Amino acid sequence: MRKPLIAGNWKMYKSNAEAVELVRELAPLVTGLKDAEVAVCPPFTALSDVSRLLSDLGAEISLGAQDVYPEKEGAFTGEISPLMLKALDVAYVIAGHSERREIIGEDDEFIAAKLRAVLDAGMTPILCVGETLQEREAGGAAAKVEGQLEACLKGADGGEIAGMVIAYEPIWAIGTGKTATPDDAQDMCSFIRRWISGAYGEDAAAAVRVLYGGSVKPDNAAELMAMEDVDGALVGGASLKAADFAAIANFGR
Ligand code: 13P
Repeated sequence: MRKPLIAGNWKMYKSNAEAVELVRELAPLVTGLKDAEVAVCPPFTALSDVSRLLSDLGAEISLGAQDVYPEKEGAFTGEISPLMLKALDVAYVIAGHSERREIIGEDDEFIAAKLRAVLDAGMTPILCVGETLQEREAGGAAAKVEGQLEACLKGADGGEIAGMVIAYEPIWAIGTGKTATPDDAQDMCSFIRRWISGAYGEDAAAAVRVLYGGSVKPDNAAELMAMEDVDGALVGGASLKAADFAAIANFGR
């Protein structure tokens, strides 16, 4: 049975002090959830204090990072290694977010290296995939996602993929208020699972968690989470408000 994951990607929002404040507010609101696991991914500058606070509070919130550099250490000015994240009790690491692919120019090969590095450090990657509006309108959404899966997962085996999280984030739905319909989300999440089954076997496909991300809000969370192959959400904007994020983690209830 896959336990849904509701992960907040805070992107480049929240100073360290604001991040700590948000976690203080959020922790009591998501205590005792039975149906979902909750994670927050603050900016790197807040990871250390948020990690300590989560532990002090005994909060039922996992810690995630938004990115990583795929080397253990070295002369990589400005970068953060998987070991540095692991040392802060980071459990999840986002890799291949469309903002990094599109704005920073990251390619599939680099993202595959990040997945390898995250797995080797004993953390769980959240691999993001998704198509642009143009690609969807041209009927190429599935082909785009398939290409990303193939290239980004090629260094991993079925057992590793079983433990991973894949987030389907259609680029046209990110920060736009345009949510994919529950059927659109289900179609692509199920396509991803079928693809994993074909490439890595039934066991990996049955275990891997496939999230939807893109304008998830308290009022659309229930219908998205009700879909069979949607195992949670990667939430941007709405994760910056404790009450909204907690409502999503409660599937809109
Ligand atoms: P929004 O929820 O703000 O659309 O962002 C989604 C996202 O990119 C999460 O990674």
